[in-house]
Formats: sequence, structure tokens, C-alpha cells
Amino acid sequence: MGKLTVKDVDLAGRKVLLRCDFNVPQDANLNIADDSRIRASLPTINYILSKKPKKLILMSHLGRPDGKVVSKYSLKPVAERLKELLGREVRMSVDCIGEDVQREINESRETVLLLENLRFHPEEEQNEPNFSKALAGLGDIYVNDAFGTAHRAHASTEGITHYLSSAAGLLLEKEIAYLSKVLEKPQKPFMVILGGAKVSDKLGVIENLLPKADEIIIGGGMCYTFLYAQGKRIGNSKLEKDRIATAKEILEKAKKQKVKILLPIDNVITDKIEVDAKVKTVGENIPDGWLGADIGPKTIRAYCATLKKAKTIVWNGPLGIFEIDAFASGTKKVAEFISRLKATTIIGGGDTASAIIKFGLEDKMTHISTGGGACLEFLEGKVLPGIAALTDSSITNA
Ligand code: 3PG
Repeated sequence: MGKLTVKDVDLAGRKVLLRCDFNVPQDANLNIADDSRIRASLPTINYILSKKPKKLILMSHLGRPDGKVVSKYSLKPVAERLKELLGREVRMSVDCIGEDVQREINESRETVLLLENLRFHPEEEQNEPNFSKALAGLGDIYVNDAFGTAHRAHASTEGITHYLSSAAGLLLEKEIAYLSKVLEKPQKPFMVILGGAKVSDKLGVIENLLPKADEIIIGGGMCYTFLYAQGKRIGNSKLEKDRIATAKEILEKAKKQKVKILLPIDNVITDKIEVDAKVKTVGENIPDGWLGADIGPKTIRAYCATLKKAKTIVWNGPLGIFEIDAFASGTKKVAEFISRLKATTIIGGGDTASAIIKFGLEDKMTHISTGGGACLEFLEGKVLPGIAALTDSSITNA
């Protein structure tokens, strides 16, 4: 990847600043609902600790507190979870910069410290140089393992790299390795599954993957704009009027490039998106007063028959409203099917990762990205500022 990694740098006896993405979902009582992102950072944390650093200073954001101290966004629950997972003390700091934090780092007996939410300071998202410098002043070397935040040019992901040698952590390195292999050299046939609410969210990915993919399978809320563009009736389903022309262009382009785009041939429809709603299955056309909520059984069979041939599969976006059981079949059955294939299966983060975890299939996929927006931008072929800012591997003496 051309960047310094944590394995290239000297860590013994040094104060190591590690940026993680501990932006985890919490329930109303602030219990962590899914700790995958914390677990995903453990290999890097344990690797650094095995090298006997003077201190390991962890930092992250949580939620969007808009530059103010908002107690529900405190990282305290993450510190507690980390203690359990690491089986050692983790000191929760009072803040993320300032004299008190410096004192804690210098005087605390614990090796591992977790700084309080970076976004309690507006300067974090503003990528303000003095704030970046203050963060950098806490350590001797910087490691970035926060793939989920690599698309943000913030003080703790980009600004800080102007003041310290900056290396990629093991998780960041792994994410880049899997996702770039898919973009650069996917084993063929290469199939892409796209879903989720909006066509507009996936345009960049379609543009970038169309020349590389053999077939693109579409479901989720975004498929109804495509069906409409093909002249199908979509009832009250979600339609992005300003994207109808774009959907038509994509279908045309795919035809010219001989990439098959698969759309639902039947649909699970409902009168309202609620647990007690009326539900039925219809063909390609959806009657007025009804809206599409999942792909139908014939579509599931057709999609699986196509996916069976794949050597590489990238999946971003659920195929239906999987959070409600009546509309979860499409996403669940396709997930179960690809989990049994010998293909390389790469799952985009965010909702797709949540669905795979909900169905208990997380250990059966080749890679589940910890990035939602970051994964999408990577698949769009964009340069992520948090990665670009790391020290080039040609520069030694870190
Ligand atoms: C994420 O959850 O996608 C990352 O942690 C980034 O969070 P953000 O969208 O609030 O910047």
C-alpha cells in the first residue's frame, strides 16, 4: 500500500497514539449494542502492547456531539468493554487534550489510556492545526487503525500526521488489502450486490465497478427507481424522480459494456412499513397503494443461481427492510447462500454488516468491512484522506 505500517516502526518504550473507530451503536441505556468495531481493533492494540510501549493512548469519536460535551456520547462504556476484552486496566481520561490529560499520561500507573470523545471539541472536525498539534504532543508516534473514519479529514485522522510519523494499524492495512484487491484484481466472475435505500448513494460505486464487474445484482429501496426506468409499475414504492434518467443511462451503459444488471422479477409488498402491515408477493409490477419492501422468492432463486458462478462477491446495501422479519427474507437467504460459496465474499460495513451479524453469518464471510461511508468511498475509487496522510513507506527512521 506504500504506507508505513505499525510493523515497520519502533514502539518499545514510546508513547503510542492509536486512532481507533470506536463509534459503536448503543441502546437507550448506553449499553453497547454491537462491539464489532472494538473487537476489530484488538489485534493492533495487542500487537502494540506486545512491543512494550511506555503508554498506549487510544483515541476515537463517538456519535455526532457537534463540538460540545454531551454525556451520552462519552467513551466511558467503550473503556469498560475494552477492559473486559483486553483483560487489563484501561484508564478513561477526563478529556482528549490539555494539562490534565498530559498529567494522566505521565503519572498514571495504567499503560493503556482512552481519551474522551474527540468530537467534544469542534476543532476535531474542523481539522484545526493547533488542536492537531495538541493531540500529537501527547505521544511519540501515531498509528491510525480507524478505517471507518478514514474518509474524514479530521484533526485525529489527517491533521495529526503533519506532526508525527504516522503508520497504518493492522485493521486499516487489512481493510485496504481486501478492498483494493477487489478493485484492482478481482477473481472472475466478479459479482456486485447493491441495495439500500437510495440510488443516489450508490451512483459512485456503480460508475466505478461497472467496468470491472461481470454482473450487478440490485435490490433494496434503490431498485424501484430502476424498475420505474424500465417502465414497470412501482405503486407507492420509493422513487427518486431526479434519478430516473441516471438509472436509464446506467442500464444503457451496462448493456453496451455487456455487464448484466439483474433487477427483481417479483416483489414482497406491503401497505405500510410496520410490523402488523398487510404483506403479499407480486410479480414485476406493484399495484397502487402498495410499496415494495423486499425481493420476492423467484428473485432470490434467480440471484442465487447467478451468484453460484461467482469467484468474487462485493455486497453493499441490504436487499429489503431486513430489520422487520416479514421483509428480511431476501437479505437473509442471499446472505446464507453466499456464506456457503467458495468465493471471496466482501461485505460493506454499515447496514449490510449489521444484517450479516443479525443472521449470525459474520464468521462465514471473507471480510466484513468496519467502514460504512469509508467503505463506500473506497469502492467509489476515492482517495481517503486518513490513508493518504500516512507516512510513505519509503521514508524510514520512524
Ligand atoms: C461511521 O460510523 O461511519 C464512522 O465512525 C464515521 O462517523 P461519521 O459519519 O459521524 O463521521
